Amino acid sequence: MRVNGIDYRTVWMEGRSVFLIEQNLLPFQFSIHEAKSCAESCHAIRTMMVRGAGAIGAIAGFAMAQAALEAHEQGFLSFLQKAKTEIESTRPTARNLFYAVEKVYAAALISRSAAVSVAQQVADRDAADSRKIGEFGSELIQDGMNIETHCNAGWLAFVDYGTALSPIYQVHRQGKKIFVYADETRPRSQGARLTAWELNQAGVPHTIIPDNAGAYLMSLGKIDMMIVGADRIAANGDVANKIGTLEKAIAAKEFGVPFYVAAPTSTFDQECPDGKSIPIEERSADEVLFQDGLTSDGRHEKILVCSPGSSAFNPAFDVTPAKYITGIITENGIIKADGGTIDHLLNGKI
Ligand code: MRU
Repeated sequence: MRVNGIDYRTVWMEGRSVFLIEQNLLPFQFSIHEAKSCAESCHAIRTMMVRGAGAIGAIAGFAMAQAALEAHEQGFLSFLQKAKTEIESTRPTARNLFYAVEKVYAAALISRSAAVSVAQQVADRDAADSRKIGEFGSELIQDGMNIETHCNAGWLAFVDYGTALSPIYQVHRQGKKIFVYADETRPRSQGARLTAWELNQAGVPHTIIPDNAGAYLMSLGKIDMMIVGADRIAANGDVANKIGTLEKAIAAKEFGVPFYVAAPTSTFDQECPDGKSIPIEERSADEVLFQDGLTSDGRHEKILVCSPGSSAFNPAFDVTPAKYITGIITENGIIKADGGTIDHLLNGKI
């Protein structure tokens, strides 16, 4: 993705360091953060400096490679196992994190250089899959369509291109006229901050809508299609995605709006039979109670936006049953989740 005339990936590795676009500072400041060790990469995942299923997967793979480079000959295996547990404890929901760590861990058992090259392959595959998702998804989008999206499943959430936004960028480049409604996505506002920033960079016409406006817009016939990303997809096609996705899917069904999920097969989890077995992250109440933003004199400030003394519950994801999903756009094509196991639908290409 091009920012200020320079091509960037969301996260990459050079030597022993991992570099990443610091997403907590966007859209106010574009800055690159260096994580010099596996521990620093874990911190970046926990604090959401880097976020989004594919980007988390890529940095988790790089963190595992960092651990392989940090480990001494003596006690190599136990150091590696400890690092694996540490990385896997950072965030529980996105399947891509576990997918990447398992692959790089297996390579690290062969050699340090194998760990680094497999981590790089995982990141490269994420970018390539996202590009393919854009190609398949673009076939669904007609000239003049209004598309709603939730959270940020753009290039910032992956190594490059994105998933839900990848088809949108593709048709925009083809010259089709489209308009995007970006759900603000409380409490961390990934839609209002990141999706809107990305769409601005790419020149895609859009507007930000409050989280609770989607059903109303659908009832007015203003939404032609909804595309969202996914953090984990169970074997029966149930989809875990950012909190708020489920109510949009139910509204879409009610108003006859096609509801698509865009995700690479590295997000599919054959070990989870259905959505109930997907672990859902609960994050700090402070993310609901406080908001940070830019003051009129250009300072970053965090302020309390709720009743002082009240508590808050903050589940980060919800699960949309397969029956609400029109189709899942993958790097291998578009599949229908409802009506068969997904590995059958993908002919084993997971
Ligand atoms: O908590 P986040 O920002 O890491 O959430 C993950 C997501 O980006 C979304 O759930 C997204 O819609 C799916 S995958 C990029």
